[in-house]
Amino acid sequence: MACTCVVGLQWGDEAKGKIVDLLSAEHHFAVRYNGGANAGHTVVWGDRIFKLSLLPTGVLHPHLHAVIGNGVVVYPPRFIEEVDQLIQGGVQVSSNLSVSEHAHVIFPYHMEEEKLTEQGGSGSNAIGTTGRGIGPCYQDKVGRTCGIRVGDLLKPDFLRERLKFIVPRKNQLIQAFTATPVKPFDANQLADQYLGYAERLKPFIKNTTKILHDGIKAGKSLLFEAAQGSLLDIDHGTFPYVTSSSSLPSGIWAGSGVSTRKVDRIIGIIKAYTSRVGRGPFPTELYDGPTGLGERIRKIGREYGTVTGRPRRVGWLDTVALKYTAMLADVNEVTIMLLDVLSGLDELFLCVAYERAGERITDFPSDADELAKCKAVYEKVPGWSEDVSKARKWADLPANAQRYVERVSELLSLRVSMVSVGPDRAETIFR
Ligand code: IMP
Repeated sequence: MACTCVVGLQWGDEAKGKIVDLLSAEHHFAVRYNGGANAGHTVVWGDRIFKLSLLPTGVLHPHLHAVIGNGVVVYPPRFIEEVDQLIQGGVQVSSNLSVSEHAHVIFPYHMEEEKLTEQGGSGSNAIGTTGRGIGPCYQDKVGRTCGIRVGDLLKPDFLRERLKFIVPRKNQLIQAFTATPVKPFDANQLADQYLGYAERLKPFIKNTTKILHDGIKAGKSLLFEAAQGSLLDIDHGTFPYVTSSSSLPSGIWAGSGVSTRKVDRIIGIIKAYTSRVGRGPFPTELYDGPTGLGERIRKIGREYGTVTGRPRRVGWLDTVALKYTAMLADVNEVTIMLLDVLSGLDELFLCVAYERAGERITDFPSDADELAKCKAVYEKVPGWSEDVSKARKWADLPANAQRYVERVSELLSLRVSMVSVGPDRAETIFR
């Protein structure tokens, strides 16, 4: 059976959840392999809207087995909150959801550490993170000495002993970063609290690598949901303004235990424009004030972070960056989301190259300092005045909207397989 990966090719928030939703009927498993509750998926489900940040979007389809892979970092209260939100909303969540025993656990001290490095004396070194403890938890994972995995929550004595070792170190570290006294964390109290969470998590904690391989052997198909966008990938993104995991499909192998060779179809998701939350260079950003085009796109596109509510930075589509991420993600095709947001503009701009020190370049410099020196070089394309949100097939789109999509396809040398003109499932054009 075919396996698919849905991956964002920009800085996240490409509306991947909708595509996962559309593909769910063809798959048996929905798998997250990276990130944690820093991701934000808004999924419109009939007349209901669910905002998930940790669970795979696929959990909304009870026929799918939703899997949180070992590459994810899990904050148990958030896990419980999302499960409860779904149950209250009438979605079945039981044996159709599993979380890897090898996924790492986020503790409140991770968030405190993050707060201090983001808001503390380091000021200009802040990354603009989501504040969910993601970076410090991954630091503990690769540092090994202080990492705690989901499976450890099921071993009360072991967990308590680990916390007795870890918590004093964390208290010292946190205190060292701040001039004002901080209330220290208490190892026993944290152990009690997390053992309480463990009671709720227990039925979901599994050897997910085995579950997925058994599924593949039985001919089942897997849908991998990348969290964040490819430009936030820890290795290939715009470091240091990235997240702490491998958001590219290369993360699948390490983050789920399933070889990327099993994935037949990699769908790159892009918005019709670009957005970014957090800090870092963004060559096509629109800085045109509260009455400008940037604000208009932000409002119409509802460009506010699902997790933090922060206004997203917005700008024109950057095909230099997209060619880079499409290459790294090895995508077979792309989908263009939120095309409707660009309706009503006389002209649109596509970034086709950068100018750096008087030189025109078309290779994306992923180094943040280098990227900051780049100025976008644009190609002007005509806009369209018609509302495209009622278009249901290619022929319904105005000629200039078709031209825009075709030009993007041409610049990326990739087929555009779907165009989304609204949040609802029906508001999709298949090509
Ligand atoms: P962290 O993942 O919270 O450590 O944040 C690192 C960077 O990634 C910040 O710029 C965040 O705004 C960004 N980021 C993390 N998750 C998402 C997401 O799901 N969408 C968009 N940006 C994200």
